[in-house]
Amino acid sequence: MGTFERGLSAASPAAAGRRPGRDLLGIESLDAAAIVRLLSAARGFLSLVEGPPPRRRPLLEGRTVVNFFGEPSTRTRSSFTLAAQRLGADVLDFVASDHTSVAKGETIVDAARNLDAMGADVFVVRNRTERLPHRLAGGLVARVVNAGDGCNEHPTQALLDAWTIVEALGRPLDRPDPLSGTVVVVCGDIDHGRVAHSDILALGRLGATVRAVGPAALFSEQTAARLGVTPLRDFDEAVAGAHAVVMLRIQRERLAADLRIDDDDYHHTYGLSADRLARAAPGCVVLHPGPINRGVELADAVADGPASRILRQVTLGVAVRMAVLLDACDLLPESAPLP
Ligand code: NCD
Repeated sequence: MGTFERGLSAASPAAAGRRPGRDLLGIESLDAAAIVRLLSAARGFLSLVEGPPPRRRPLLEGRTVVNFFGEPSTRTRSSFTLAAQRLGADVLDFVASDHTSVAKGETIVDAARNLDAMGADVFVVRNRTERLPHRLAGGLVARVVNAGDGCNEHPTQALLDAWTIVEALGRPLDRPDPLSGTVVVVCGDIDHGRVAHSDILALGRLGATVRAVGPAALFSEQTAARLGVTPLRDFDEAVAGAHAVVMLRIQRERLAADLRIDDDDYHHTYGLSADRLARAAPGCVVLHPGPINRGVELADAVADGPASRILRQVTLGVAVRMAVLLDACDLLPESAPLP
């Protein structure tokens, strides 16, 4: 453990009296019924994202959500902020940077404990340190939602990805295996991609056959074994007959310094072009969590083409985060959706 995150090695007294509700640390701990429950609830909130104004329902009135981010984010942070605000919560934004106490030597955990002591209800945590959300969950009064921990997991992205595919393929959300009979390809940097890890788990639990494909340098046999999939290397073969393709960015910030990947070579072998997409099943949809590197993992014609559901993912993401924040606060009924 580095100095950066020191401070939760001993059991914290705060953990003894946690707020009612649930942490969301990974897809690992969600079964199919739990995933479908969150997606069904999220569907009920979609009108607060894309319906007519006023797009507000004060279900989180008087609650405080802390965005606790130590890594760059555009979509995820804005999405959690909007979700919390539309439900009436107060939102505190903590971005570990030169402008916060972390620059003065405070550990990230001490910073979290201080915000927790102000009466936070939910911490939304993104950090380069794997399992930091899990450790914070053991020491804070607030509930913790993982918004991406290093290479490990990004559960809310997997929930919105799964829903985007369910919706695009017109699958019902009233059964635990809405994706049964579908083939979903996940392609790219699977070793370092937390989205890949969470997606493969979630899609598999919902009944999809997941084909995971990538170069050996970015998708090892060990990662494949850990995720319970066969590592595929030939993208053309993997795409054949697929109903959905999830493309991933090369996580360059997490690669070993000596690993060189040429963008043009990569695009040629693992980029999704219109020609390659033509091998998929009719009506196949394309997803990407963003940020997109155009001309590397995705050709412009695909990113902006009729199969793309990339912006739909973003819209659905806000509703997913509403459901997750309510669940974290113990305000989501067990079965029937709220609205
Ligand atoms: C991803 C992330 O940060 O893990 N993006 C996201 O949350 N929308 C994927 C990426 O950075 O490539």
